[in-house]
Parts: sequence; structure tokens; C-alpha cells
Amino acid sequence: MPHLTSPAVAETGYVVLDPFDPVDAAQWRSLEYIGWRSSGVTRFAPLASYDGSVDCNGFWNRTPPRTDKDGVWVDAQAALAPALVGLAREPGANVGRCRVVELQPNTYADALYNLHRDDNNRLNPDGTGWVVRGFLNLTDDPGSVLVLREDQRDPSGEVRIPLAAGCRVIVDTERYFHAVWHTGDSPRYALVTSWTSGPELDAYIAAHHGRTRVANPPLDPALLAEAQAELHRRLDERAQMFQSLG
Ligand SMILES: [Fe+2]
Repeated sequence: MPHLTSPAVAETGYVVLDPFDPVDAAQWRSLEYIGWRSSGVTRFAPLASYDGSVDCNGFWNRTPPRTDKDGVWVDAQAALAPALVGLAREPGANVGRCRVVELQPNTYADALYNLHRDDNNRLNPDGTGWVVRGFLNLTDDPGSVLVLREDQRDPSGEVRIPLAAGCRVIVDTERYFHAVWHTGDSPRYALVTSWTSGPELDAYIAAHHGRTRVANPPLDPALLAEAQAELHRRLDERAQMFQSLG
């Protein structure tokens, strides 16, 4: 029996909702962050975790392992950021991991190299809801973009979603390689939540007028060519390194 998916997310693999109202920066500045190198130079402030501790691990890495559902709120963190908890709970869908991610500025080539797929649905029982990711941009980064590709090396069909404050996107992060190209000179903060697909999430997407296609901001072809060359160079270098280790 297949997983239960959201028709809106399944159409293109992502959906852009109406922006949410700005949140006071004190909500994320006061949180406890831990170094967790994910996609670029990042730190994470967990709001919901495997067992309510300040931990970023996938739930399947803990004992007993489970899929990315039934996250436990980190009481001390949630108390500092009730507006962020409210945003994560707004759909009424099951919440797995929920955290604020802090990302340092990077280049387009960095973002392409950082592109990855998640494994949120590891151990997710057939017939239950597919886990997708909500990305809610907290800082105002209109020159930065969430980059989505179905194949890391292939720029055709790339989606670039500008990250102004209030930008709200849901992505099937197992379908899309994803990473953020963050321009600017200060860190970008976003609320990232694992939500379970189902009628609650569908209603939330409808209520906020989810759009399954958005126009890309323009990209200089020379910059694209340069970043593609750099991506291939770095990927080949990494492959050679693994080969020499093997
Ligand atoms: Fe990811």
C-alpha cells in the first residue's frame, strides 16, 4: 500500500504558500544552537526532537529507531519561541523534527555542491502519511534562493524560490535535491519542520493558496556556467578521494 501523499505537493514536488506574518527576531535569537553541519556552514536550534532533548539527529539514529514523526517539544526552547511553535503547529499535521536553521552566506557553486535529498521517510510504514518539509524564512533574504533540482548535476528544470521574510514553502525533500544559496553578509534563519501529509496539511495548503509553480528569478548564464563547472570539479574531486580511500 503506497504512502498517503498531498496532491498539491505531488504535482510538482513543491508548493509555495502565502507569506506568514513577520516574527520578532527575539524568538530565534534567544534559542540554544548547536553546531550541526548540514548543507553549508550551519547551526541548528531544535524545537522538537526525538525525545525532547536538544538534539538534531534523525529519529532513525536513536534507540529505538523511528521515522520522522511524533517529535517531542524541547520545553526550554519552545518556551522561548511560542510564535515559532505556533507556526509549526498551525497545519495541525503531525510534527517530526522541528528546528531553526542558521546558515552563513555562501556562493551559488557552494549551494549546488550542498544539494542533497533528505531521508525523512526512512522507517515510515506503508499506507501512512509521507513526510515532507516546511521551510519558513524568518530573516528577510530576498536576494537568496532555495534551489531545487531533480538531478544534482542537471540545471534544466532548476527551481529557485526567493527567500524574503515570511516565505513559506513545502517541499518533498526526498524527490528534490535542495540547498539554499544565501547572498548577503549576515546569517539566514529559517524554521524547518517535518510534517506528515494528510487532510490537515492539504487544508493548510488550500487555506494559504498554495501555488505549485513559481517563476524563477533571473540568473546570469555566465554565473550558471561557472558554478556548473565548479560543481563538477568538486564532485569529481570527492569521487576520486573516495576511490583512493577504497
Ligand atoms: Fe535537507
